[in-house]
Amino acid sequence: MSDQFDLIVIGAGPGGYVCAIRAAQLGMKVACVEKRATLGGTCLNVGCIPSKALLQSSENYHAVRHDFAAHGVIAGDVRFDLPKMMGHKDEVVTANTRGVEFLFKKNKVTWLKGEARFKTADTITVGTESYTARSIVIATGSESVPLPGVAIDETRIVTSTGAIALTQVPHHLVVIGGGYIGLELGSVWRRLGAEVTVVEFLDRLVPTMDGEIATAFQKILTKSGMKFRLGTKVTKADTAGEGVVLTLEPAAGGTPETLTADVVLVAIGRRAHTENLGLDAIGVTTDARGRVVTDAHFATNVKGIYAIGDVIAGPMLAHKAEEEGVALAEILAGQAGHVNYGAIPGVVYTWPEIASVGQTEEELKAAGIAYKVGKFPFMANGRARAMGDTDGFVKLLSDKATDRLLGAHIIGPDAGTIIAELVMAIEFGASAEDVARTSHAHPTLNEAVKEAALAVDGRALHI
Ligand code: FAD
Ligand code: NAI
Repeated sequence: MSDQFDLIVIGAGPGGYVCAIRAAQLGMKVACVEKRATLGGTCLNVGCIPSKALLQSSENYHAVRHDFAAHGVIAGDVRFDLPKMMGHKDEVVTANTRGVEFLFKKNKVTWLKGEARFKTADTITVGTESYTARSIVIATGSESVPLPGVAIDETRIVTSTGAIALTQVPHHLVVIGGGYIGLELGSVWRRLGAEVTVVEFLDRLVPTMDGEIATAFQKILTKSGMKFRLGTKVTKADTAGEGVVLTLEPAAGGTPETLTADVVLVAIGRRAHTENLGLDAIGVTTDARGRVVTDAHFATNVKGIYAIGDVIAGPMLAHKAEEEGVALAEILAGQAGHVNYGAIPGVVYTWPEIASVGQTEEELKAAGIAYKVGKFPFMANGRARAMGDTDGFVKLLSDKATDRLLGAHIIGPDAGTIIAELVMAIEFGASAEDVARTSHAHPTLNEAVKEAALAVDGRALHI
């Protein structure tokens, strides 16, 4: 006889663990299977949390060396201790993964330790045991996309997992891919002294972000010493010698050249992870990119099986996975769970940060939607001046006819926190005028949002 549950969730990342907790809150008997030794998935173990710990530590070091003097703070001989920095990161990860363990106990979610595999549509095996449930959720996340000719060894040629655990600062780090991971982890090692070259296939960075923000971002990163090779691809990595010799070519093909690095970070995207799940045997449909296909209620083509998070379509972000986890648990409990995909923010946690919600100017143009633009630079914001952090601007896009906010894009200090009010505005269907007429505390960075909203109507006050 197999153990019976109302719901089994496969994978304890932000999609899976949040789904399990919400379902338990709603009265279901829930189990969550995780093959890692700790809970929290990619995000808590090797993704969002450790990368942000290293970004914060390296940012502190950079600020003491380069920014404090302008505030009259004289720091003297500043050094860093890499093992201690890594130790801090590991402690933060452990505190977070243990936190999820505590939440499972509190909510009576059973943690099944091991790798799940479908036996039938309502039964999975974990090791030698079988478990049955009325509903099963696939929340198995994603993995790094490999690059042909560039074999990962997680020492000299690394994915993000190796790049958050290097034991010394590379002299020359070559990052393949100018997206979220490449620019965040490239920034960490640049601040700690590495020469960093980013090789990007396209002719711009962060392709999902607004083009104007990407251009400003590249300028600021260049000022920090990062080098960029846009419109370029890597075709081969030779590890026979001491350094890694990469062969580069123009993206469209052409004369090859070489570039030598001591560490190479491959960050060209992530792909759905469904290996060893046994999906074929039970007939769950996947798309051309290996993602589990679902309907608007996260149901796959097989009755009783659902999927959420990185393993399905949409942005591969922790908060998107969490929203889906909550919505699905509520749908399974007979409620009206829903995710507004038009109001999911994206943030790159460099310094300055870039943050975005809604549509970009390029998307509005392509869709033929008439829009108005309002922009305001942090250079004209009192708080940013006091902080000595004046790079960047806020850019708002609103519907030309109705003034409804369609997109918000920020590059600047704490952009990832500032964007929250605009996510809320878009969620509530607010106009730029609504934001402009809302009182913003003075002096705050968010006043730049109010001013950008005023600028949509050509009436910014402080510029
Ligand atoms: P995952 O977190 O990948 O969790 C899936 C879990 O399923 C894993 O623990 C895996 O071990 C387990 N699993 C897989 N197959 C099985 C099986 N058969 N049986 C049992 N268990 C299984 N997103 C943000 O929003 N903000 C950030 O700052 C951010 N930073 C990131 C930094 C890095 C370096 C990386 C790599 C990613 C980052 N992300 C960030 C993305 C974020 O980590 C993912 O979007 C998020 O983790 C997806 O959640 P998930 O629950 O779908 O899957
Ligand atoms: P990405 O999709 O953000 O960026 C990949 C980049 O690599 C793109 O610019 C792409 O054009 C480029 N590229 C693709 N093939 C290439 C090739 N052969 N040669 C050179 N460049 C190539 O993917 P990334 O950075 O690997 O991150 C994966 C995902 O993880 C992100 O899309 C994001 O969803 C998530 N993530 C989120 C973070 C956050 O929220 N702050 C931080 C880190 C990751």
